[in-house]
Amino acid sequence: MVESKILEIIRRRHSVRSYLERPIEEEKLLAILEAARLAPSASNSQPWHFYVVRDKDKIDALAGKMPLGSQLIANSFIAQAPVVVVATAGPLSFLTRIASFVVNKKWYYLDLGIALEHMALAACELGLGSCWIGWFDQEKVRRLLALPAGEEVIAFLTLGYPSDPAVPPKQRKELKAVVKYV
Ligand SMILES: Cc1cc2nc3c(=O)[nH]c(=O)nc-3n(C[C@H](O)[C@H](O)[C@H](O)COP(=O)(O)O)c2cc1C
Repeated sequence: MVESKILEIIRRRHSVRSYLERPIEEEKLLAILEAARLAPSASNSQPWHFYVVRDKDKIDALAGKMPLGSQLIANSFIAQAPVVVVATAGPLSFLTRIASFVVNKKWYYLDLGIALEHMALAACELGLGSCWIGWFDQEKVRRLLALPAGEEVIAFLTLGYPSDPAVPPKQRKELKAVVKYV
């Protein structure tokens, strides 16, 4: 297989759920946000907002703002992250809503997914770890961050220096199990 720099970063990126206390340099954070800003989106609608949470009390509260039971599952580790980016979509333009309706697809979920993964990959290249968070309580997060009406929280990304530099092996299906040449 041809090797490439981006493929190497994709291989190295993994969910990091334990962070050092070390803060993230401002310029690194800006580069990560820039990677999100440059992401493609349906009709170039850029339906996103990224709320950068650095306040310890707010991060602790985010770690606690999960639906019943999730603390027991995993997400209390959010409290260790020096930065959490809360990504929202909306309000959607008339054109985006019409296009979504016509094809029956919520493009903004894809748009936000691409932008967040851009951030995760940029973070990895800069030596930072990240973890996607999809398991949260929408209403509680909205209230905590006083989010405007018309924005939906899609996911968070925790960011920070990993406490363990090791890259675990990928648990993935084989290429031949998921690709068909037709
Ligand atoms: C949309 C989405 C939501 C996720 N939500 C959570 C979450 O709430 N908590 C968590 O610990 N990991 C979460 N993850 C991380 C996945 O569990 C992880 O990406 C997957 O197991 C593959 O492992 P890797 O990221 O280390 O390659 C989420 C990932 C995605 C893409």
